[in-house]
Amino acid sequence: MSTIFDALRRWPDVEAPGLVAGDAADRLILDESAGLRAAAGPGDIAVINDAYGALTLGAAHAGAHGIRVHIDAITGERALDANASRLGLADQFRSVPLDAELVRGARLVLLRLPRSLDALRDIAGLIAAHADPSVVVVAGGRLKHMSVSMNEVLREHFGQLDVSHARQKSRVLIARSPRDGRDPVPAAARVEGLEVRAYGGAFAGARLDIGTRLLLDNLPDAPVGGTPDDPFIDLACGTGIIGAWMASRYPGAQVYACDQSDVAVASAQATMLANGIEDRVAVARDDMLGARPPASASFITLNPPFHSAAAVTDLLAPRMFADVARVLRPGGQLWCVWNSGLKYRPLLERAIGPTRQVARNAKFTVTVSTRRRGLPDRSLVAGGGNPRDSAASIR
Ligand SMILES: C[S@@+](CC[C@H](N)C(=O)[O-])C[C@H]1O[C@@H](n2cnc3c(N)ncnc32)[C@H](O)[C@@H]1O
Repeated sequence: MSTIFDALRRWPDVEAPGLVAGDAADRLILDESAGLRAAAGPGDIAVINDAYGALTLGAAHAGAHGIRVHIDAITGERALDANASRLGLADQFRSVPLDAELVRGARLVLLRLPRSLDALRDIAGLIAAHADPSVVVVAGGRLKHMSVSMNEVLREHFGQLDVSHARQKSRVLIARSPRDGRDPVPAAARVEGLEVRAYGGAFAGARLDIGTRLLLDNLPDAPVGGTPDDPFIDLACGTGIIGAWMASRYPGAQVYACDQSDVAVASAQATMLANGIEDRVAVARDDMLGARPPASASFITLNPPFHSAAAVTDLLAPRMFADVARVLRPGGQLWCVWNSGLKYRPLLERAIGPTRQVARNAKFTVTVSTRRRGLPDRSLVAGGGNPRDSAASIR
């Protein structure tokens, strides 16, 4: 097993000392499921929320075939593919969306616990609705990311729940006897005159984040762009609240909203449908702006993430700013909101160009950065996508 873990990489997600591709919780899930995996037949195993392939490839290396896998982040899915190719295990699994097909008839589910209870509820309900009645769910995580509320959520959909001893600051919950299954339904709310939809785990749920609110309050009256060739871009769109707001506030505008998270993209798509603007807002799952051509955009908005899987990292935002610089045309603008403590202004200046503060409150800063002419061509270093698969999937 250690050979598999040693060979795993996070690429194309951020890599740095201390950011690992597989950890003690993955090892515990694999160890606790070893007997069940040995007894499982082809197609019996589903893996949900694997970070970079440790669970899937650990099971495949031990002989499992026909594994169905769902990873929310496109970077995680691409890392799984890259790791599997290197290890010669690519034909033992397939990636599928978070729907009935993922778990239909499954007898064993290996689950890396999501941090969001709403995401866990969606996953547990889905398994209970479609897996084999004999299914066993081996769900694990790091203690610092677990709470007893997770046990309660699992008990809503499983009659039996056993809890492992902790090992290396990790623990496993083992759920059996599925009941009260249901397919995920997005939370719904009306926010600032917009309908917002959020599946479990989407950033801020069906609410307006206070940083996002400061950005919306300060966007310009008539930005350049918004045409089919030069749509307004809502980068890292989450539930799509900024994209929906732009499509509503700027009449007739075309918008492109993208996020690497499958749950975010499903939520954004539901948000656009609920507002009747799905014909003007294309929603794509992509790593940053991987599918957008260089020097093609006039107006991009961004409320950047600072988590890569469960790890908080300051490497993500600079990577995103570099990709924004690649995609903005000279003179194009990035409107960005950030936690003031992060001091992004010098990074924005360096990566994109002159950066002006537009608003600031106790916690957040909104800036506009104008793409300077003559930046180096970053198309080879940014984009972040797997070179074999650079197109975004438009849903
Ligand atoms: C702070 S949230 C902002 C969401 C939304 N724009 C809002 O303001 O409510 C950051 C978003 O970045 C997304 N994200 C993280 N890494 C990404 C990447 N490499 N490419 C695209 N989106 C990413 C996350 O999934 C998350 O939805």
